[in-house]
Parts: sequence; C-alpha cells; structure tokens
Amino acid sequence: MSEHFEVHGGARLTGEVEVVGAKNSVLKLMAAALLAEGTTTITNCPRILDVPLMADVLRSVGCEVEIDDDVVRITTPAELSHRADSAAMSRLRASVCVLGPLVGKLKKAVVALPGGDAIGSRPLDMHQNGLRKLGATSAIEHGCVVAEADGLHGAQIWLDFPSVGATENILMAAVLAEGTTVIDNAAREPEIADIVAMLTEMGAKIQGAGTSTLTVEGVPELKPTEHRVIGDRIVGATWAFAAAMTRGDVTITGVDPHHLELVLEKLRLAGAEITTYDGKGFRVNQPERPQSVDFVTLPYPGFATDLQPFAVALSTVSEGTSMITENVYEARFRFIEEMVRLGADARTDGHHAVVRGVEKLSSAPVWASDIRAGAGLVLAGLCADGITEVWDVFHIDRGYPHFVENLNRLGARIDRVGTPTAG
Ligand code: EPU
Repeated sequence: MSEHFEVHGGARLTGEVEVVGAKNSVLKLMAAALLAEGTTTITNCPRILDVPLMADVLRSVGCEVEIDDDVVRITTPAELSHRADSAAMSRLRASVCVLGPLVGKLKKAVVALPGGDAIGSRPLDMHQNGLRKLGATSAIEHGCVVAEADGLHGAQIWLDFPSVGATENILMAAVLAEGTTVIDNAAREPEIADIVAMLTEMGAKIQGAGTSTLTVEGVPELKPTEHRVIGDRIVGATWAFAAAMTRGDVTITGVDPHHLELVLEKLRLAGAEITTYDGKGFRVNQPERPQSVDFVTLPYPGFATDLQPFAVALSTVSEGTSMITENVYEARFRFIEEMVRLGADARTDGHHAVVRGVEKLSSAPVWASDIRAGAGLVLAGLCADGITEVWDVFHIDRGYPHFVENLNRLGARIDRVGTPTAG
C-alpha cells in the first residue's frame, strides 16, 4: 500500500510557521558546486526527497556528498566524470542543471534527459542553443544530452523566453568561458539571484542579478564556498494561501516578503490583512470569506506558475467568480479534475480556468499529480466537510519539508497513513 493523507476539513489555521531554504535554489546550488574543486558547504537546505536525489546525481559524476540535517557538503574531486546518467536523473527535473557546470568545467558532458513533474512539455532547446553560442556542440543521443567543446568563449545570447533552467545552465557554463557573455531576456527569479550570489562568492564575475540582462566575465577557475540558501517563497506562499482559505491568521517567517509582492497584493485583494517584516517574513490574517480575484501566471516578477494550484484552490471557496490564466505550462490545469471531485465549480478552456466559488467543498479521495497540485488539493481538503484522502503524496514530499507537521502545528488535522512509496 502507498501513503496517503487524511485531511480533516474545517480547521482555521493560526500561529507561526518557519520556512527553510528553497527547493528550486538548493538543487541548482548543489550543481554549481561542480565548478570548484574542493568542499562546498550549503546551509539552510530543506529536508525534502529531491536533495538526496540530487546528491545521487552528483555522486554519479564522482563527488562525495554528505547530508547532515540542513547542511549539504559536496566535495568535488580534481577528476570529475562528464557522464551523469544515473537513475536519479530521471527522477527530478533539476538534475539537468549539471549540464552547464560539466560543460563549463570539463568542456564535455553526457547528461541523461531529466524527469520531473507531469505539468506539460519541458524541452531543452534554449539550454542547447545557449551552449552552442558558447562554442559547444549539443545533441540528444540515446536519451542523453551530449555536449562538447574545444573551448568555450563568451557570446551574446537572447533567450526566446526567460527560462529559469536555461538561464542557470548557460550562466554556469559561461562563468568559466573565455571572454564576456551577455544573457538577454534572462530569468529574474530570486533563485537566479541566489545562484549568482553563490557563484560570485566562488570568484565568478557576474553583473545584473535580478534583472533580465546578465553579464558574465569568464574567469579561469572558481573556489569552493559556504552559502546559505534563500527561503522558499513558494512554500511561504503555500502557507499564505492556506491561511486565506481557512480564514486564519498565520505568520510566516524565513522568507523575504519582497519575493512575494504580487502574491501578497492578490491576497490583499481577496480580503486578507497583510503585515510584512522586512526581509524576515509576513503575517496573513483573513477575517472574512475571501473575495474572488483573477490570476495570470508569468515569469517572475509575475505570479508564479508554481502557485497557480493555490490560486485555483482559493478561488474554489471565494465569494464570486475568478479567472485563472496559465501561461507557462499547458498541462498544469489537469489537477482541476481532482478539485471538481471535491465539489469545486471549475472549468477550463485552453489556458484559462473559470472558478465559481462555493461556500464549502465536500470531501472525496483525490490524487496528487505533482508537488504543487498535491499541496493545493490538501488546502482544498482543509475547506471540505469530512475527511479528504489525498493519494500519491510522495509528490508533496519532494518539495515540502515537514508538510503535515507544519500544517498540524497551525491547527489542521492531517494524518499520514500507509507505507512510503519510492516516489
Ligand atoms: N522552455 C522551453 N525550452 C527550454 C526551456 C524551457 O520551451 O529550453 C519552456 C518550458 O516548456 C516552459 C517555460 O519555458 O513552458 C518555462 O520553463 P523554465 O525553463 O523556466 O522552467 P524549469 O527551469 O524547467 C523551474 C522550476 C519549476 C517552475 C519553473 C517556472 C526547478 C527545478 N523547477 O522549471 O518548478 O515551475 O521553473 O518557474 O527549478 C516546482 O517546483 O514545482 C516546479 C515545477
């Protein structure tokens, strides 16, 4: 039997919850450690399934990786393997982020195509085109990206779309290339600024973090460092939506509210009282039933696609009708069928969803299809009468440390039932 959660509906969440380091930062910082021989230490790491999976990917190219509570130590040897084709590659998307560092450092990489969530098509064309501009060849062969170069040189690169992963891979290859690289239409997510901060501590020369133009002046080598991962804005926002949906009052610490400005503005529009604590956290107090709000997903600083399931979940119990537009992943509305099982009045048409809020949802068994959809279904279960069973919860464990414990501490009643699956 696999694990599921039994979510008892009706709780009002109150109290304080601390957020630790961001999944979508730590995994890339771990890959960046490949760029410097010696031991790199990363602190404030979340205890989630994806961290040991990424550790396996790094071990497959010859690193030693030690995970000690919230600290990850990666020792990169003088002789690294250019071949990352471990089974772990197929289990998480972020594994593709070893491509840039391996090409940068070894001028050669054979990297198995990554796995990850079923949220829509996730091609690597921009990653490959960027590496080609830097002077590498890149092809897909036998399920792997194969890239090779005699030497990498600086280049002007325009991305078609501000892809997070392509920006990271090109950046991590360019830091050791000869000359200056300019990445235009680069992703501006806080996690990119976090990698830039770590690479800079390692000796890289990068300008423009947090803007859409990154300028990288190549250096011959990097040195290891110790770096603290930024707080997870997506986890922080998950608790914020949970507070708003349950008409609760929750203080969220460990995450910079500047990383969530648009999200907090949307929650204000829904009727929440928001107090921010500069650089440290924020409080969400929702005295009345939420009002409907429209949401449009876009790259940062737009409303994150990773929060779209929570926007839908909030809309299912808000007063009025919301339109949610998904612009990043075409299949990310699939979980709405599960919301409908819970009594949501929701329909989709292409990349729009129309959700008419209902007073109360009604419990049912539902299935998580990815990390955020799974968490969104749990939040909906908190607003349903009866006990909602959420299945395939290994997805949620990939992205949320102590998910059940955190919600229960805020006053929810969620039981984890059954035996863990491999995920
Ligand atoms: N895209 C291309 N070609 C490429 C790269 C991307 O067409 O070469 C497209 C994708 O198909 C997608 C869009 O560009 O439509 C955005 O993709 P992006 O590359 O920005 O996403 P990613 O780097 O693969 C990261 C996060 C996702 C998050 C997205 C968008 C990690 C490990 N994953 O993915 O997080 O949704 O950015 O913000 O950092 C999650 O945490 O649940 C999650 C899925």
